[in-house]
Amino acid sequence: MQISVLGTGYLGATHAACLAAGGHTVIGVDTDPLRLELLRHGRAPFHEPGLDELLRSGVDSGRLRFTDDLDEVVDADVHFLCVGTPQVADGDGADLSVLHAVVEALAPRLDKPCLVVGKSTVPVGTAADLRGRLQRLAPAGTGVGVAWNPEFLREGRAVRDSLEPDRLVFGVDSDLDNQLLREVYADLVRRGAPVFRTDPATAELAKVSANAMLAARISLVNLLAEVCEASDADVSDLTAILGADPRIGSDFLSPGLGYGGGCLPKDTRAFVARARELGVVESSQLLASVDDVNTRQRTRTVELAGALVDLTAGPRVAVLGGAFKAGSDDVRDSPALAVASALRCRGAQVVVHDPQAGDNVRRTHPELEVCATAHDAVRGAELVLVLTEWSEFAALDPVDLGRIAARRVVVDGRLVLDGDKWRAADWDFHALGRGTRGAA
Ligand code: UDX
Repeated sequence: MQISVLGTGYLGATHAACLAAGGHTVIGVDTDPLRLELLRHGRAPFHEPGLDELLRSGVDSGRLRFTDDLDEVVDADVHFLCVGTPQVADGDGADLSVLHAVVEALAPRLDKPCLVVGKSTVPVGTAADLRGRLQRLAPAGTGVGVAWNPEFLREGRAVRDSLEPDRLVFGVDSDLDNQLLREVYADLVRRGAPVFRTDPATAELAKVSANAMLAARISLVNLLAEVCEASDADVSDLTAILGADPRIGSDFLSPGLGYGGGCLPKDTRAFVARARELGVVESSQLLASVDDVNTRQRTRTVELAGALVDLTAGPRVAVLGGAFKAGSDDVRDSPALAVASALRCRGAQVVVHDPQAGDNVRRTHPELEVCATAHDAVRGAELVLVLTEWSEFAALDPVDLGRIAARRVVVDGRLVLDGDKWRAADWDFHALGRGTRGAA
């Protein structure tokens, strides 16, 4: 099957490579020349385990290519919309301008029956709106269908999540469109991936609802962590006990600095904005609070840092972590960088180290100093904060670091450090969600 993938960010690049691995002829479209250049050489424009190999084998096989020219995609049977839908600059809703621009540029070029499939995360009702736009703009009688097929991939596990999905969601209006999507994903369906057939609106909602539930879970666990902190209870023991209940489960129960990234924060806000538009005003307050609790973890961390060192005196502060989560070099809405920037605004001289995201931190936060190693960051620091859950940080030797830090004060914002070990090395150890229990 001939397939186009419009937009080659985390979602589109991974999707295009996986479709090519599934035997289809795929053309990825983007406007960013740098990104296209890398992709044409079989290289992902971001850190994503396994993606380079998949892209290279697709490009080498001749089944995967990339272009900036929409005229080259008109022969495709299926067009996947994978462009970004960020938060609008002046509110909480999703900015659909790129999605609209792509559909409006594609529609007049279409001259054969095809299916336009949305994968981008969008407010419910977008598929219906796009159907109207396509009907208006595509040449009469072309026969263009619209379906929604949300993607649930996680950064850092994008290839695995795409090749071994826990579910495929086909939001379709007809058996024909359903059949077409089954053919697109034939290899995954054959290998037993569960398929949920539904209507496009429910498929759109499936994605934002999943992200809303994940966000709510993290904020709930962070509320519990605050209560633990205030009552000298142990949040790790608590989450272990909660997670043993099969109705609750133990995944996604890590307390700390809260969620960030290109999806959960903006999708939660867009969900609330859309719910309000639809008249669901009072109940959607729940999700607005989820967002507030999440932001609060960042403020709490800055306040804790301010209580431990006099930030106005310009101390050197080492921030270990820049990516929004471990396993990724993505710094979009990174809780670690939000804290780092706030500390700098209060007067600290902030030095950041991240195992993967250093270049992105330099690009997006030129005001922050970036170090190649954790040791370089900690050398001479009066305070150390661990703000991304990299396993490398858990493996750091507190005795070693204690020799080069100016003061032995550490804040574990992700509960990745072994507090006993750090205290034994004479560090004044603080962790979000933990009271003073165990402190010397
Ligand atoms: C998320 C969804 O998981 C994925 O299904 C969707 O397609 C896109 O958005 P991703 O943004 O890659 O994926 O990150 P995820 O692994 O969900 O983590 C999101 C944030 O939550 C990170 O900042 C992470 O550090 C934080 N997190 C995660 C916690 O604070 N606690 C946890 O227990 C889990």
